[in-house]
Amino acid sequence: MTQSLNDIALDLVAPQKGILAADESTPTIAKRLASVDVPNTEDQRRDYREMLFTSEGGNEFISGVILFDETLRQDALDGRRLAHILSEQGIHPGIKVDKGAKSLAAAPGETVTEGLDGLRERLNEYAELGARFAKWRAVITIGDDIPSETCIATNAHALARYAALCQEAGLVPIVEPEVLMDGAHDLARCDEVTRRTLSRTFEQLALQRVALDGMLLKPNMVIAGKDCAEQAGVEAVADATVACFLDTVPAEVPGIVFLSGGQTEEQATTHLSAMNQRHPDLPWQLSFSYGRALQASALAAWAGSRDRFAQGQTAFLHRARMNGAARSGAYTAGMEAAGV
Ligand code: 13P
Repeated sequence: MTQSLNDIALDLVAPQKGILAADESTPTIAKRLASVDVPNTEDQRRDYREMLFTSEGGNEFISGVILFDETLRQDALDGRRLAHILSEQGIHPGIKVDKGAKSLAAAPGETVTEGLDGLRERLNEYAELGARFAKWRAVITIGDDIPSETCIATNAHALARYAALCQEAGLVPIVEPEVLMDGAHDLARCDEVTRRTLSRTFEQLALQRVALDGMLLKPNMVIAGKDCAEQAGVEAVADATVACFLDTVPAEVPGIVFLSGGQTEEQATTHLSAMNQRHPDLPWQLSFSYGRALQASALAAWAGSRDRFAQGQTAFLHRARMNGAARSGAYTAGMEAAGV
């Protein structure tokens, strides 16, 4: 039976589960691998993703994995398709379909995400290769006079064009307008920019007839910039984030799946758990679609060796379990030390 877009979206935000973002582009995975002194070869990229995807029991906490084009087509060392390894465990394979953030003309310091040309054809191919959902990331930078309305509106328009095309192809679009944590801005400024960005994005999604019950939103949390001297406490971040979304995200959207955006593993888990614990009756599921916050310790434990798959998987499963607990607000810092 074919699953509807709404069924897939609901599967992706099922209780205690969330999404692993393993869709780093080749230049981005190069940086991650370099951080543990591993060369960026096709085999090493394959080994690393194979290690993550063959973690036994990962499907208890992971509902979907976002892949990069190369990975969707790649085989494990034993010849099995990596995407099939996921679907056999009931984990939906997803695909990053944008072509990256490029300088936006007439808007110094700002970017627009490209990749719309030929997207319909690419989406059809990805669906045939087994992808059930897709991701497109827009990047909004906070600075003295930015983000401009030009940047926010241009990215919102592209996000909505992408989302409509995904739904036409039977893929659930993950709509990701990321307001970066880079900078010294405070939480209030992040709140204001996130509200503007989400309002514009949902205007465009409505205008371009995107079915809100067949998509997921992947936003940043409302949080102070990395270089801000006054970091808000966990409860303040949780409450500001939920308040921002209650004002901007329609109730028909099945779920909000956060990016980690440079938070540490424990920060990202703690914030998500606080939101779910303090605000149990929200119209949408609050879940995760973490990249770095699910992978950082697994990457370090694996460190480039197939002999260390087990160590990498233990670290990955631990983070997946912690974030699974955060889905219901049940995570506590004590669970880290106990190695639960
Ligand atoms: P981070 O959680 O590392 O921010 O990555 C999530 C992601 O997919 C960004 O596009």
